[in-house]
Amino acid sequence: MKISQLTEAFGAVVSGVDLGNVDPEGVEEIREAFHKHQVLLFRDQEISMEQHIVFSKNFGPLEVHISKDSLHKDHEEILLVSNVKENGKYIGVENAGDSWHSDLSYMPEPSLGSLLYALEVSEVGGDTEWLNMYAAYDTLPQKTKERIEGLKARHSFNRYKNKRIGVPDQRKVGGKERYAKISPPDVFHPVARTHPETGRKALYVSPRFTLGILDGSDDEAQDLLDELIEHATQRDFVYHHSWKVGDLIMWDNRNTLHLACRGIPEGQIRHMHRTTISGDVPF
Ligand code: SIN
Repeated sequence: MKISQLTEAFGAVVSGVDLGNVDPEGVEEIREAFHKHQVLLFRDQEISMEQHIVFSKNFGPLEVHISKDSLHKDHEEILLVSNVKENGKYIGVENAGDSWHSDLSYMPEPSLGSLLYALEVSEVGGDTEWLNMYAAYDTLPQKTKERIEGLKARHSFNRYKNKRIGVPDQRKVGGKERYAKISPPDVFHPVARTHPETGRKALYVSPRFTLGILDGSDDEAQDLLDELIEHATQRDFVYHHSWKVGDLIMWDNRNTLHLACRGIPEGQIRHMHRTTISGDVPF
């Protein structure tokens, strides 16, 4: 196995490994690289859904996503991230990740990490970006670090409650009723969380799921969130990925955000499988 740095900011490419057949020493090497680099890219993988699930489970139990109508019908651990339509309806989440977010931060125990595997990619568009949220925290002014110490932010899946991400296209995401029905109750997590493995602090807010701050006035909370999000989303902290068929990217949801860049022309297909690893209560 060879592990080489992906960008100056973070991330690594892991080569010489078949994810359908990794021995326990290989898993440990990957776990170490995962904690060090936050985002791991594996190229040229040819794995079945079973192998994707088995490999993912080395890092923890898997989540079954709350978007039930986007799960693979034979494997509920696989979320379909896809613009394929059957009978006029998307078979998976067509708009997955269209604003910066960390997976499942709207849950009491958000996801540890996710593994997205490209089965079909569009010729144009469909890239994904990741943000290094350790770097976002580390480079905050000391005054801001002190201000956010001990603060908790409100997170919600319900995009209709979120002024920051604008009015969604109801035909693609479903109406208010769908979100009211499937969204779990709002949760509160530290604005800066400590990674349980590395002990490092990462900023843990996102435009997609963070609605406000627990204490203080909402105006002040929104100003603070705007400031933190603007700081975190600067280009120096970004890894930009143009997908190839067979790429699998595994990322840590505790110290990164990610964004689907979209821009796929009508008629081009992008079809991916995602597994989502369960995590712990952030602290
Ligand atoms: C996701 O947010 O998990 C999907 C990202 C993408 O489709 O690029």
